[in-house]
Amino acid sequence: MRGNVQAYIRHLKEHLGESVVVKGWLYNKRSGGKIRFLLIRDGTGIVQGVMVQGQVPDDVFDRFDELGQESSLEVTGIIREDQRSPGGVELQVTGLSVIQICSDYPITPKEHGTTFLLDHRHLWLRSRRQQCILRIRDEAVKAIRDFFYDREFILIDTPILTGAIGETASTLFETPYFHEGTAYLAQTGQLYLEAAAAAFGKVYCFGPTFRAEKSKTRRHLTEFWMIEAEVGFLDYQGNMDLQEELVCAVVGRVLEKRMAELSELGRDVAILERIAPPFPRVSYDEALKILSERGSELAWGADFGGDEETVLSGRFDRPLFVFKYPRGVKAFYMPPDPDRPEVVLCNDLLAPEGYGEIIGGSQRIDDLELLRSRIREMGLPEEGYDWYLDLRKYGTFPHSGFGLGLERFISWICGLDHLREAIPFPRTITRLKP
Ligand code: 4AD
Ligand code: MG
Repeated sequence: MRGNVQAYIRHLKEHLGESVVVKGWLYNKRSGGKIRFLLIRDGTGIVQGVMVQGQVPDDVFDRFDELGQESSLEVTGIIREDQRSPGGVELQVTGLSVIQICSDYPITPKEHGTTFLLDHRHLWLRSRRQQCILRIRDEAVKAIRDFFYDREFILIDTPILTGAIGETASTLFETPYFHEGTAYLAQTGQLYLEAAAAAFGKVYCFGPTFRAEKSKTRRHLTEFWMIEAEVGFLDYQGNMDLQEELVCAVVGRVLEKRMAELSELGRDVAILERIAPPFPRVSYDEALKILSERGSELAWGADFGGDEETVLSGRFDRPLFVFKYPRGVKAFYMPPDPDRPEVVLCNDLLAPEGYGEIIGGSQRIDDLELLRSRIREMGLPEEGYDWYLDLRKYGTFPHSGFGLGLERFISWICGLDHLREAIPFPRTITRLKP
């Protein structure tokens, strides 16, 4: 029957004058005289339902009092234009079917502490702010996939259970693996992506990655999602061009499609609107000078921590590339600069506003002997890398790639204080539940 079709709140404007059913949850309610207002949410938006005494059956009208926040409902009504309402419409209620009356919903419109909210993450997801963030994440992921698809990159799903240490031995999650010894949860898909780059030329992967990092900072998760790209016959400079293009494309898409969500989050979009190529590029050595001018003395060879990254990126209004870091602070696969072997052909990309490193990338060592000796120098178990070394034996090729940490990227785009809001169910060293 036409009068009883389910309509999603986001599309109610297309149903002016029609009778529809909205299926969802009670977000809030209030009453005044003979009128009752129900704020109903269905995941696509929020609409105000209006019940007038005498215009709905008395038993329907009377149920209003019992309904607590998050009661699940099916509300029938006629869609009326209403310029004062958020979606430009309201629902004139004619019928109400209650699926469950909910009482004592733990998350109320008052302020709650972060620990409480994280303990109730499974419910916190229903709040407007969390919905805005996760919609932006969804948009960014679609934009990333489109970016690579449009440029004819092939998606390669790399394994999560791995036999070789991808990045560093210090942050591994290990698990016993039948008769094969120990498996590591992937820190990166890179090594496998390099194999795929020799097969397809331009490839990317996008999946969860794991780091048993003891850091309790607002920038660290133990499980995070990483987008990685790997391109044959590309050097470390072309690699930075590609990263710049990707970041601009994704920020542009979010601005185009998710302005309402950004505004609701209170994000200063003017900052995002300035994100355009070219991004400034400074060498590690130049970065040390900038730091020293700002009173932050660091010995050559030391890695940047969050504080240094904040000082550095604070000088610019767009993301900042820092390239050619000292060999000692970077991974085994990065090639030395031929003119200056104590630095490697790599880059980090630091987001503005103190968000720190969002991308790490580099050219890869393509010489068999050099790579073998770096694996030994770093004390990595060589037997896991025979297949990786094969890539340098059979048609070795110059190539480069990078990894973009999705939660750090989303955190910056949304202007969040902490990474944990940028992922549906965050994992940190102290949190495995919910
Ligand atoms: O710089 P990283 O360690 O680089 C790699 O893993 C390379 N194999 C990528 C590649 O070249 N294919 O990590 C890349 C990015 C970081 O810039 C950061 O955004 C994110 O991953 N990341 C984390 N995000 C959240 N929590 C953590 N503990 C993270 N560690 C790294
Ligand atoms: Mg890094």
